[in-house]
Amino acid sequence: MLGTETGVTNASSTKLLKKGTRPGVGISEDKLIPRLKVIERLKKILQPNEDQSFYHVVCGEHGTGKTTLTRIASREAGQDKDRGIQGGAGVIYVDIPPDFKDLGDAFGKAINFAFEENISFTVQLGRKILGTTKDKSEISEWKRAMKAFKRASATYKAKHGKSPVIIYDNVSRLVHKNPEVLDILQDDAKDNADYQNYIAVFVSSEGSVPRRMESRSAWSRAENPIEIGDLSKEESINYLIDKRKVKKEEAEKLYELVGGRIIDLRRVANKSLAGQNFEVIKQKESIKALLDSKELDFTAFMELFNNYEEASEVLEKNIFAYHPEKKHRELPVSISRILYSGKVRYIH
Ligand SMILES: Nc1ncnc2c1ncn2[C@@H]1O[C@H](COP(=O)(O)OP(=O)(O)OP(=O)(O)O)[C@@H](O)[C@H]1O
Ligand SMILES: [Mg+2]
Repeated sequence: MLGTETGVTNASSTKLLKKGTRPGVGISEDKLIPRLKVIERLKKILQPNEDQSFYHVVCGEHGTGKTTLTRIASREAGQDKDRGIQGGAGVIYVDIPPDFKDLGDAFGKAINFAFEENISFTVQLGRKILGTTKDKSEISEWKRAMKAFKRASATYKAKHGKSPVIIYDNVSRLVHKNPEVLDILQDDAKDNADYQNYIAVFVSSEGSVPRRMESRSAWSRAENPIEIGDLSKEESINYLIDKRKVKKEEAEKLYELVGGRIIDLRRVANKSLAGQNFEVIKQKESIKALLDSKELDFTAFMELFNNYEEASEVLEKNIFAYHPEKKHRELPVSISRILYSGKVRYIH
């Protein structure tokens, strides 16, 4: 047995790491931009050699494709099709949930997904990892899962001669409300890199995460962060034309409008393919850019419309849902003035 808290056996823990979490990607291959260079780079860090003694940080602004690429890499790491070897062995992927109290559960699930056994067995095992008593606090729940993972790591390393890897995606969800948990994960990542027990990979959209991590002594064991950025113009246009079947001329215009952020390209491609006119897309994107820039006041908003009715129509669609503090003032000015005045700032 691995320990009284977890009740996970050596055999099952080895099995779980052997298979890996292999998280789903959620995009069909025909719509996927391969981004082979980035994936290769990520795959390398997911297959550490025996002496690897650093942990990793993957960063990049919102919607650049970090989750997608990390998930692909974590499924493919170590794959050898010729020899019939499935990828993902030794890689556990944990998506940090929006609500901290679900962290223990997310951890347990990530570990459970790695099992091949039938669901009732995995549910049972999850209970063993996480404990069944209700009065145990959430913090001890995720700590217990962490402990189970570490014990499994030691077994895996002894058997396979290489450290397993744990990926924490969306760590920015910890940095504001539970920064001390991020600190614990980082300290643990450092200690375990030192002892070559497991390698951690932190994936974050917010600069506040690497900034906090960098400021701590445990940063001494971090590799230089890997940044996942926007697509080049060529990649963006190819995505719109080849993967989304947008016409060439429209693709050029859409790229000029939003730039090379995949999440933006995907959104405007969806709109265009749904039959929305380019001018309408442009107007909505301009509003979105203003809202995202957090610089929009109601005056600027009204300037986007020809008349009050047009503005009201948009307001009814609740675009100010996330900006309840904005006040309603009437100031209709021509839309073209703001669209071509350089006041619209796109965030790339
Ligand atoms: N290589 C790709 N090919 C096609 N679509 C992609 C690719 N990468 C990401 N996408 C799509 O772009 C959107 C954003 O991707 P993803 O969620 O991976 O970004 P992210 O950087 O993790 O975002 P966040 O910062 O919000 O966590 C998703 O809808 C995803 O399906
Ligand atoms: Mg993400």
